[in-house]
Amino acid sequence: MASALTQSAAWKALQQERQRMAAFKLKQAFAGDPGRYDRMRLAAAGLTLDFSKNLVEDGTMLLLHDLAEQQRMITHRAAMFAGEKINNTEGRAALHIALRNISNRAVTQDGHDIMPEIRACWKRMEEFSEAVRGGKWLGATGEPITDIVNIGIGGSDLGPRLVIDALQEPGAAPHLHFVANVDPLELQRVFANCNPATTLFVVTSKTFTTQETIANAASARAWLQRKISGNPKAVRQHMVAVTANRQAAGVFGIESDNVFDFWEWVGGRYSLWSAVGLSIALALGFGKFRALLAGAHAMDEHFRTAPLTQNMPVILALLGVWYRNFHDTSALAVLPYAQALNLLPAWLQQLEMESNGKSVSRDGKEIDYQTAPVIFGAAGTTGQHSFYQLLHQGTAMIPVHFIGVAEDAHGMPAHHKALLANLVAQGEALLTGRITAGSPHRAIPGNRPSSLIMLERLDAEKLGALLALYEHKVFVEGMIWDINPFDQWGVELGKQLAGPVLDALKGHPGGGQHDASTQGLIDYLRGRINRS
Ligand code: F6P
Repeated sequence: MASALTQSAAWKALQQERQRMAAFKLKQAFAGDPGRYDRMRLAAAGLTLDFSKNLVEDGTMLLLHDLAEQQRMITHRAAMFAGEKINNTEGRAALHIALRNISNRAVTQDGHDIMPEIRACWKRMEEFSEAVRGGKWLGATGEPITDIVNIGIGGSDLGPRLVIDALQEPGAAPHLHFVANVDPLELQRVFANCNPATTLFVVTSKTFTTQETIANAASARAWLQRKISGNPKAVRQHMVAVTANRQAAGVFGIESDNVFDFWEWVGGRYSLWSAVGLSIALALGFGKFRALLAGAHAMDEHFRTAPLTQNMPVILALLGVWYRNFHDTSALAVLPYAQALNLLPAWLQQLEMESNGKSVSRDGKEIDYQTAPVIFGAAGTTGQHSFYQLLHQGTAMIPVHFIGVAEDAHGMPAHHKALLANLVAQGEALLTGRITAGSPHRAIPGNRPSSLIMLERLDAEKLGALLALYEHKVFVEGMIWDINPFDQWGVELGKQLAGPVLDALKGHPGGGQHDASTQGLIDYLRGRINRS
């Protein structure tokens, strides 16, 4: 049955606009409109967005804004900032904006101001991270901590891993390690490279029930107890927990004073701003973590107050909808021209695809339109030598987000200039293409869209603003698609099925009934696992 959205006036107007724009050529649009570049640029929170190389005209943007208005964007935005339970299927608010609210403004959740408890969390994070970094917090044998290991997965890994990889100076202390996969390789590398007496494990898990994280934490604890044997402080001085489930952390054996709490209304993929950012504060110092918060807060204020037509997250979201739903594209390429942002696509995959990879509307109806695209990407220029062929000559048009950093942070201007030249040239090549008479193989169609987000420099503030920009873009897309971006019921089945399969692999009876392929795999693997 057709949804209200696809039957709506704004949606139908955009379908007509798509037909009207069938012959639109970017090159001609620029040639005939000298002011296009200046009109289609925005600045906010230290970032600039150039969206002039998109397959839109001013009229297209107005029709997209009509859609945002029709979908009550302003109401939804206000509801999020007001702490309403917009995560309707879990009955929770989504208040990641409170986690970085460095202003003195109250943020209410269930009628009370939550800022005092958030400020108390910041204080604990600052005290602990400074104690570890300053050598006040000592290991069980009295030595200072040299290595930090974040054990966590998904939103309990990707955010801290990205921020630390982006901002930590090469060779800086303490050394940060990340263990996410239940595959033992990451843990074995920690065991091989770290001294247990000077290693601190940060077990990060909102639920404190995630199979991979609990397995890794248990193996890490056993390693500590084996290596620092007979020492009653072997766990207390070398293992802390970051969780919304303090009770489960206690059952696991984490001392109560070593638990850093966060709240149910913090979504996992939106949680790096909470105590989940403890590894960030340990790696970079609390000051840098606070600067990250400040940058995100600046973007929050822009999103909260800027008119929708001048609103960076809204513009990115509307363009995402324009391509996904009216150009039938299936992917979005995110190409950061900064090696320090190499992990951004992985963080964005969870943010976008776990938030908006939905096929049922907020009120539970089947939907008849596309939602989240597949997100992929890699740092430029490396991606140019990998998948850009498809971007330029493939049969599918894939919209591109380029991300650039204007200032050279490494004191090697020649390299930085080359990096920026490639960044600018790739957007130009997608736009202009190349006609080669008599050589169709070399023809490049061009007229392919890209947006460019430019950071003045890559520091904690600008990174915070960039990540918040995408969080709000995802939220706006979710509201336009009338879905709930804050739950993730789709990941439950796989986790549940892994239990009986594991039992079957262990040879326990009652591993459940399986299809012939699954059962065949179990039989094949059982024959091999138990040999090893
Ligand atoms: O993938 C499902 C998920 O629940 C993510 O949403 C979450 O970030 C990740 O697993 C880890 O969950 P937790 O922080 O509870 O260990």
